[in-house]
Amino acid sequence: MDLREKIRVIEDFPKKGISFKDITTLLKDGDDFRYVIDKIVEIVKEKEVDIVVGPEARGFVLGAPAAYSLGVGFVPVRKPGKLPADTLKFEYSLEYGNDALEIHKDAIKPGQRVLIVDDLLATGGTISAVAKLVEQLGGVVASMVFVVELTGLNGREKLEGYDVESLVQYE
Ligand code: PRP
Repeated sequence: MDLREKIRVIEDFPKKGISFKDITTLLKDGDDFRYVIDKIVEIVKEKEVDIVVGPEARGFVLGAPAAYSLGVGFVPVRKPGKLPADTLKFEYSLEYGNDALEIHKDAIKPGQRVLIVDDLLATGGTISAVAKLVEQLGGVVASMVFVVELTGLNGREKLEGYDVESLVQYE
């Protein structure tokens, strides 16, 4: 399947100069959605994943079904102020602005092997923050899987040392 045909590209969203890769056109098709989740699961099948972590918001949509299929739990990483219990916070910069992410302090047990799933790798700011949160809790990042990778933004360089996989790449 050529995922490029399934992903809608919107120019100048949310700001001028950003070429937004819209996966809602892929998610709304049951066969395409299943294909993507099955691919993610296949990529990590030898990685001994104990738990899946996904950042708000599209990381939830992809991470939760991947966790279900792997037979492991799912942990949300959220924007500040959304998680109700004690949290760890990490500040980061992303393709268009600055933000912070939080995780519940009791979400990961030390030594657990974590799969991080998100829709898109751009600068790598978001996913670096997620990895830092996981590691501060004693988790081990087993793999990072993205549907889309924007290779021109060199996110992969920021993620040196991690196992980084993507299903489709755009310059
Ligand atoms: C987008 C995307 C990734 C992140 C990638 O999320 O879903 O999480 O940006 O960019 P980066 O590699 O430069 O960090 P966004 O921050 O727009 O949040 P949302 O999913 O809640 O809309």
